[in-house]
Amino acid sequence: MKKLIAGNWKTNGSVDDARALVADIINKLEPDEAVLESCDILVCPPFLHIPAVRHATHGYVAVQFGAQDCSAYESGAYTGDVSAAMLKDSSCSYVILGHSERRQYHGETNAVVQQKAERALESDLIPIICVGETEEEREQGKAEEVVIAQLQHSLPPLNDFHQIVIAYEPVWAIGTGKTASAEDARHMHTLIRGELAKHTKNAEKVRILYGGSMKPDNAAELLATENVDGGLIGGASLKADQFLAIARAA
Ligand code: 13P
Repeated sequence: MKKLIAGNWKTNGSVDDARALVADIINKLEPDEAVLESCDILVCPPFLHIPAVRHATHGYVAVQFGAQDCSAYESGAYTGDVSAAMLKDSSCSYVILGHSERRQYHGETNAVVQQKAERALESDLIPIICVGETEEEREQGKAEEVVIAQLQHSLPPLNDFHQIVIAYEPVWAIGTGKTASAEDARHMHTLIRGELAKHTKNAEKVRILYGGSMKPDNAAELLATENVDGGLIGGASLKADQFLAIARAA
């Protein structure tokens, strides 16, 4: 399966920074397009930077873009929300949902993540549904149970045509410089694949990304691990060189 190398830019930078970063990625990717044979490239800027990224990628389909969240509602009186249909209208292809930062700081429950995923699928966006255990849950031996429960309750009902992506992001690895070992990642990703098989006939085709301190120096090992179909990258996605080094590692 072709890997997906996805950058989650989180809440960083200005419009000018976003424009410059995507231009840098495109300029460095164009002479080195062999990398695109083994991976797809996605960037997920903040909502307000999406138009600049859209403009900068115009005509260059190799760099796809998406958002970091969407509304659980279709449209109407939901002050402050950005709907999945609006993202589609702005040419987004993907939307990250249920990131642990949204679960932690915005109280998003599995039920809300599931609702958002349904809205995303209705608008023909590919949801990237994030799951992952905290350090405490891992220490208590509950990592598998937590991740499976998150999946069971966050996954929308799926038909044979729906495309989804799962991101396994152990919370203790995000922004900490700690990563899951290749063996832990293999184990968890295989478990996730098994759970997906209960929800869709296409479980083998679902990309399961690893996220959490993925960097150029650890990407090759993680991305060569069984059932690791790409990366969801935070910090290292803000530098074109680092982000593309991870793509090359795939
Ligand atoms: P870092 O790569 O900065 O650890 O962030 C990972 C992440 O949260 C991606 O969604």
